[in-house]
Amino acid sequence: MNLLIYKTLEELNQDLADYVIKIAEMSIEENDRFNFVLTGGSSPKALYHFLATEGQHRIDWEKVYFFFGDERNVPANDDNYNGLMAKKTILDPLGIKEDHIFYVDTTLAPEKAAIEYKKAIDKHFNGEDPVFDLILLGMGDDAHTASIFPHTTLVKDEEVNVAAVYVEKLDTYRISFTAALINKADNIAFLVFGENKAEALKHVIGDAEKNPDLYPSQLIDPIDGKLTWFTDVAATKLLED
Ligand code: 6PG
Repeated sequence: MNLLIYKTLEELNQDLADYVIKIAEMSIEENDRFNFVLTGGSSPKALYHFLATEGQHRIDWEKVYFFFGDERNVPANDDNYNGLMAKKTILDPLGIKEDHIFYVDTTLAPEKAAIEYKKAIDKHFNGEDPVFDLILLGMGDDAHTASIFPHTTLVKDEEVNVAAVYVEKLDTYRISFTAALINKADNIAFLVFGENKAEALKHVIGDAEKNPDLYPSQLIDPIDGKLTWFTDVAATKLLED
C-alpha cells in the first residue's frame, strides 16, 4: 500500500491526474483500451475537471470505458446521481461516446439494476475475469467506500459482484461493487482529503486489528493489484508516524 500525503489539493489532483493518465497510457498500450471505474461524491470533481482540461490531449479518450463503483437509487437526472456528476465534469467535456459509458440503470428496482449492471460488465469483459485497470474510490467520514457502509450486508458479501444494499442510516438503497470485485482491479486509488476524514482514516489505515463492519474501507486490499492512497495533511493528521 502506497500512502501519498499532499500539502495542497492542487498538488494532489495534479499528481492523481498524472497517475490516471499513466495507467491509461499503459492499459491502452497493452490492451488497446482503459477500463476506468469512477467514484461518486464530491471529492473527485476537481480531478475530473483536471482530466477533462489538462488531460484532454494526453491520451486517446476514445479508448476509455467508464464505469461507476456505486450509484444512488435516484433517477439519472437527479443531482445525486453519480453518473450525472461525472457527465457534467468529465464525460461531456471530453465528448465521451454513450457506448463507452456504463451508467447504472436506476429506472429498474435496485436488485434488478445491480444484476443488469453486472451483466453489462461481464459482457464488456467477454465473460473473462472483470479486472479493471483502475478503480477510483472515495471514503466517507464513517469509513464507507463505494456503497459499502458500516453494518450493512455488503460488508460481509464475498461475491465478485454488483449488489443492491439498503443503507438504513440514509434510508435508501444503493447499487455498488462488492469489495471482492474492487479487489480484483490492477490498480485502486483512494482519494481522501479533509480533516473530517482523519478519524476514519486513522482506523482504516492505522488499526492493527481490522473491524470492517465498523470501517468497511479496510476491506479494500487488492489481490494482485496496487493500492495507492492520495491524501492530504489534514486527513492523515491522526496517523502515527
Ligand atoms: C458516493 C461515493 C461514496 C463517496 C464517499 C465520499 O456515491 O457517494 O461513491 O463512496 O466516495 O461518500 O464522498 P465525498 O467525496 O463527498 O466525501
